[in-house]
Amino acid sequence: MTLDAASMKKIVAEAAVNKYVKDGMNVGLSTGSTAYYAIKRIGELVESGYDLTCVATSVQSEELARECGIKVVDVDEVDKLDVTIDGADEVDPRMQLVKGLGGALLREKIVAAATVKEIIVVDGSKLVDKLGTKAPLPVEVLRFGHLHTKYALERQGCKAELRMKDEEPFITDGGNYIYDCRFDGIDSPFFLESRIDVIPGVVENGLFLNTAVDVLICDENGEVRHMADTTPKPEELPVR
Ligand code: 5RP
Repeated sequence: MTLDAASMKKIVAEAAVNKYVKDGMNVGLSTGSTAYYAIKRIGELVESGYDLTCVATSVQSEELARECGIKVVDVDEVDKLDVTIDGADEVDPRMQLVKGLGGALLREKIVAAATVKEIIVVDGSKLVDKLGTKAPLPVEVLRFGHLHTKYALERQGCKAELRMKDEEPFITDGGNYIYDCRFDGIDSPFFLESRIDVIPGVVENGLFLNTAVDVLICDENGEVRHMADTTPKPEELPVR
């Protein structure tokens, strides 16, 4: 039997929580339809007696977590997070990621940076040979001067489209806009990130490089596999 996307997301999110979340941990809560199932499962662990301290990456996830009885604190109230269970929009063979179609990339990147084990949960549709071939790269930008920021983004070789919601620009939890940048594949993610990060008005980009320590993937049969990162990391350094 072939599973639908929601079933695959549930299976993989629960598998990650069951494997990586232990009693007493500080846990990061991601945002999105896969993260939804992880938060629900974490809620069950709390109900069963686990003492977990959690940090949410969006207002939406914080609300869901509180509904599930999970203790949520501000990220600055913890010195680190032991584990974060996070979704992704693209995963390449080196476990490099594009994230942010759910609009929470800024807080997700801050939380990921404070996390010891960043665990990614996806269904097989998120796997790509090269980043930027399926999903656009979301870039969060200040509203002030955003058209000039867009022009600078497009000079990096993409078509940048302002994200809309209900016929208005989408506003992030940080009060910013998002440009979805459509590339014809990203050849050098580290170099591109270094170019994007120096554009005035850019707040954060959706490339999550050398961030994941494990990626769990659920296939259409409901089998979960771990993506082992056995290949050496590229020696590319950001050029600033
Ligand atoms: C939110 C994200 C999500 O993790 C990403 O968009 C995947 O979402 P979903 O699990 O709904 O496919 O980065 O900012």
